Amino acid sequence: MGKAVIKARNLKFALAGADKRNWFGGNPQATALLDGASILFPVGETYFINAVIHYRDQIADPKLQAEITAFQQQEGIHSREHRRYNEAIQAFGGDVPALEQNLKDEIARWDDSAIFKLAVTCAFEHFTAIGAHFALAKEGFFDKADPEYAKLWRWHAIEEAEHKSVAYDVWNQVGPKGLAGYRMRIRALMLATRVFNGQTLHNALSLLKARGETNRWKNRLAIWKFVFVSPGFLWGILPAYFSYFLPGFHPWRHDNRHLIEQYKVAYEA
Ligand SMILES: [Fe+2]
Ligand SMILES: [Fe+2]
Repeated sequence: MGKAVIKARNLKFALAGADKRNWFGGNPQATALLDGASILFPVGETYFINAVIHYRDQIADPKLQAEITAFQQQEGIHSREHRRYNEAIQAFGGDVPALEQNLKDEIARWDDSAIFKLAVTCAFEHFTAIGAHFALAKEGFFDKADPEYAKLWRWHAIEEAEHKSVAYDVWNQVGPKGLAGYRMRIRALMLATRVFNGQTLHNALSLLKARGETNRWKNRLAIWKFVFVSPGFLWGILPAYFSYFLPGFHPWRHDNRHLIEQYKVAYEA
């Protein structure tokens, strides 16, 4: 099975300054959804790094060791840039630290065994991988977006695609086998599904309110349209989402290296 080469690109994005509160094509609700997801990343990606690093000593394969290092570097830089992103959008309204605290409180309630943390990381990495694939594969997805925000999201999408199997490859070596392993990773996927969707939506609605977009029905209709109609995010990710339930699932069974190759040239120094 072929995999992408994982390369950390230490980039900084110019996000602060001009009022870009509707940076996604002038669409306040779509912008708020992406901003709502961004709020989850600094805390989430720190959790993912720690979950994978915990098992580093049990991995003998030097190739996977090198991939763990590259994964750690990529997620560390993503976390830093989304922290800067979240500071920049705070200027448009909204209590970012309070929204971030919701995720911290949620995590504090989870099973905190090291192996379940790894299962949760695999599940969230599945979400980021299929979301990244959608953002890269959907024709014209960022065409009307502010160029710098689009550049950040594409960079993040490329790197999520590159490292999409690292946590899962570690899981395959250290995780429980058979039915016990299957049940744990599906339990983790259910948790990730609830938290990722629930908190992204909650964050988006909270940001919209703080930004003066107070028409609840207009907000809900526009979010519904983004998810179901245009660009139809849900239909784009649903088949890939369900592939996680297959007993022989592996992230690289869906080979999307052509998209990484297509877009990464814009980031080569
Ligand atoms: Fe990331
Ligand atoms: Fe990731």
